[in-house]
Amino acid sequence: MKTYTPSSTRYASMRYNRCGRSGLKLPAISLGLWHNFGGVDDFENARAMIRRAFDFGITHFDLANNYGPPPGSAEENFGRILKQDLQPYRDELIISTKAGYLMWPGPYGEWGSRKYLLASLDQSLRRMGLAYVDIFYSHRPDPETPLEETMMALDSAVRSGKALYVGISNYSAEDTKQAVDILRRLGTPCLIHQPKYSMFERWIEERLLHVLWEEGVGCIAFSPLAQGLLTDKYLNGIPEDSRASKPHGFLKREQVTHERIEKAKRLNEIAQRRGQTLAQMAIAWVLRHPTMTSALIGASKVRQIEDAVGALNNLSFAQDELNAIEEILVR
Ligand SMILES: NC(=O)c1ccc[n+]([C@@H]2O[C@H](COP(=O)([O-])OP(=O)(O)OC[C@H]3O[C@@H](n4cnc5c(N)ncnc54)[C@H](OP(=O)(O)O)[C@@H]3O)[C@@H](O)[C@H]2O)c1
Repeated sequence: MKTYTPSSTRYASMRYNRCGRSGLKLPAISLGLWHNFGGVDDFENARAMIRRAFDFGITHFDLANNYGPPPGSAEENFGRILKQDLQPYRDELIISTKAGYLMWPGPYGEWGSRKYLLASLDQSLRRMGLAYVDIFYSHRPDPETPLEETMMALDSAVRSGKALYVGISNYSAEDTKQAVDILRRLGTPCLIHQPKYSMFERWIEERLLHVLWEEGVGCIAFSPLAQGLLTDKYLNGIPEDSRASKPHGFLKREQVTHERIEKAKRLNEIAQRRGQTLAQMAIAWVLRHPTMTSALIGASKVRQIEDAVGALNNLSFAQDELNAIEEILVR
């Protein structure tokens, strides 16, 4: 692939939302490297997606220690892409990583101890060839480690200069409130929460969004397309090149249910009436909350990123559209 010169118009159309009550803004659409950036994937395709995303003003790339497969390989590949293409633009990028899931054998290779989190952060920095990440997350709450210890490890990551901000992911509303309080006392505010949220997964509406709003913490919704179910991808069966058809894909064939596809078909009709694709409407729907900083999408092809960015052309909903969507979802 040729040397990369980013588009000179990359900041012309992306929208940037303030992350809670922090000084940081994130693009309304961010790109995650959970699938399609690992050692089993086509490197040049991964590279093309990152370049295209940055051309659109997608400044935020989300990783975790375990993304691959094999675990760690998405960070290694991202490190290569940074070195080849994006090194001169490091100050224009928000790069996040996480620790929480299994990375190495023995009692210190997962969950939320200080021992694990700080060792994992060092490993992530080495794999990506970075001096620091912009956001370091606790990837999941650890029921056995005191919350204070996990939060103190995040605070240490910032104090050591290896992370600029910290966040939490998959924490309940109650655990979030406590984590935010502890971090505030330590002097390292919690920047952001990363929960799963889409038209098919709405647990955050009950309490979490309210807690984040009150505490001034940002929110980045992962899997806003329900791993592809909220696109036109599965409307006529399971295509060969889809996540559901891959042995290492986290979307299992059994999750592509008749009920979900029927809902997706009806939602697709509303999207078409709005002059959008279903993926674009699903992204706009997630972003409708004032607390929502960014929709964190995944992609397997450049054209999916192009499709996602088109959501920005119509982010608002009329009340009757919201009602019609609701009627489909609650059935
Ligand atoms: N914190 C956590 O615990 C956690 C957990 C999961 C994910 N995440 C983060 O969230 C990111 C996104 O998750 P996700 O990949 O599940 O998000 P998603 O946006 O819900 O799903 C992405 C998948 O949907 C399909 N797709 C995307 N755009 C499409 C389009 N325009 N038309 C048709 N199909 C389209 C592609 O699947 P195909 O491969 O089938 O083409 C793509 O890989 C991850 O990369 C990661 O950074 C975090």
